Amino acid sequence: MIITIDGVAASGKSTVASGVARTLGIPYISSGLLYRAVTLCGLEAALEGGDLRVLEHLQAQPPRLDPRAEGNRVWRGERELTEALHATRVDEGVSAYAALPEVRAWVDEQLRALPAPFVAEGRDMGTNVFPQAQAKFYLTAHPRVRAQRRSAERPEELDAIEAALVERDARDAAQSAPAADALMIDTGELSAQQVIDRIVAEVESRRARA
Ligand code: DC
Repeated sequence: MIITIDGVAASGKSTVASGVARTLGIPYISSGLLYRAVTLCGLEAALEGGDLRVLEHLQAQPPRLDPRAEGNRVWRGERELTEALHATRVDEGVSAYAALPEVRAWVDEQLRALPAPFVAEGRDMGTNVFPQAQAKFYLTAHPRVRAQRRSAERPEELDAIEAALVERDARDAAQSAPAADALMIDTGELSAQQVIDRIVAEVESRRARA
């Protein structure tokens, strides 16, 4: 079974995907981490944002996603990149790489090589990468709520975090449309556990009907 959880930045996707995956006893895969890994490769190669030459660096030493249910990790050679992928400079640079069709094709290829069952989390999992998924969800929340959640993880002021999220939503809009058959969930009023419970209940009722 493939379950997709898409949604805007800081809508709680990773926490929810991890919780759903652990409840169901299957892995989850964070596609955003691969876009972040591409961005870090570009930054470390001193490329301008969105420079296609990043592909040469990826091919020379590809980042690898380790899709653990308790939290995905990314490695490049012997080095673990995971923590560095959430730096503000990666947040700021990622949309320019994610807009490139060649980069999207590289990420999609890594994702489609992973064996099901899994929960896939990102922006276009239900539309583009796994349109055949049996259950699709799309998470939203007001930008202020998302900024409040993010402020626990980032050193910047709340207003700056909110402005950066709104700007990234606009830059990512082209690849972030919900699938027509996705169930929309506004996570603003809900705890992460309530969102997880709602998704697991929906998945189980679909399984019972199948
Ligand atoms: O979910 P996130 O914030 O970690 O994602 C990082 C960036 O990667 C986000 O700004 C948009 C991009 N992304 C994408 O274009 N498509 C995906 N499936 C996942 C992420």
